[in-house]
Amino acid sequence: MDKIIDGKAFAEKLRGEVARKVAAIKASDNIVPGLAVVLVGEDPASQVYVRNKGKQTVEVGMQSFEHKLPDTTSQDDLMALIDQLNGDDKVHGILVQLPLPAQIDEKAVINRINPQKDVDGFHLDNVGRLAIGDPGIVPCTPLGCLMMVKDQLGDLSGLHAVVVGRSNIVGKPVASLLLAENCTVEITHSRTRNLQEECKRADILVAAVGRPEMIKGDWIKPGATVIDVGINRIEAEGGKTRLVGDVEFSSAEAVAGKITPVPGGVGPMTIACLLHNTLQQACTINGIAVPG
Ligand code: GUN
Repeated sequence: MDKIIDGKAFAEKLRGEVARKVAAIKASDNIVPGLAVVLVGEDPASQVYVRNKGKQTVEVGMQSFEHKLPDTTSQDDLMALIDQLNGDDKVHGILVQLPLPAQIDEKAVINRINPQKDVDGFHLDNVGRLAIGDPGIVPCTPLGCLMMVKDQLGDLSGLHAVVVGRSNIVGKPVASLLLAENCTVEITHSRTRNLQEECKRADILVAAVGRPEMIKGDWIKPGATVIDVGINRIEAEGGKTRLVGDVEFSSAEAVAGKITPVPGGVGPMTIACLLHNTLQQACTINGIAVPG
């Protein structure tokens, strides 16, 4: 097998499976999964994400509902929209694009979402379920990381996993998922002493710290599986910019057993997992089994 983990191809395959299952529940139960995406304000990066989400939602046969609100939107108006989407039978997944403008209480908005429609897995109910190992909705990027690692390594029992980064969106949920797979899990972060030495112990290294190319080849145990969640735009030659991960790819590739590139690694898996979660919830909400 190739050393480079092709996230683009993996995501394509996952979207193909989702599309097939969407067609199956449409035929058997006349259910069309629906995903509502809420964008407040005009952040250019968020606009690109939301456009891609809408496009891919339609491509797998689901309904896409986009709600674009001005950046002056009040807390009450946003809460009222969430209530409306919670009560809409055509909507099985609700995603509020983050970050939100400063006048909005982000946590209050997320926790207003019906936990069964919280396809980001950010609601406290789903966070708690993941923490205690109960079934719930798993955040998309961590789920994508786990799917790729399991596809490469199979059984993860007893492997030493080091997660660099402790965010609520990636670091903490990835650690919970790896723990549930019986890994020995170490969470490290920017204040960890001897970070290089800790990284070098990893059979599975997940980099989600948001520092461009911080992790070098000599931080990696030979043969380790390296999952790079970082997406950093840096200055390149000729006044251009380029995307790099949290891992220095050229030196890491020489040492790692398997490695995800940036771009084309974890990134494409996030939306594919969002569609996967939406399909799962359309089935759960309607009380039917997810097709095999
Ligand atoms: N902004 C950047 N990443 C994400 C994500 O995974 N979910 C949401 N809702 N907003 C984001």
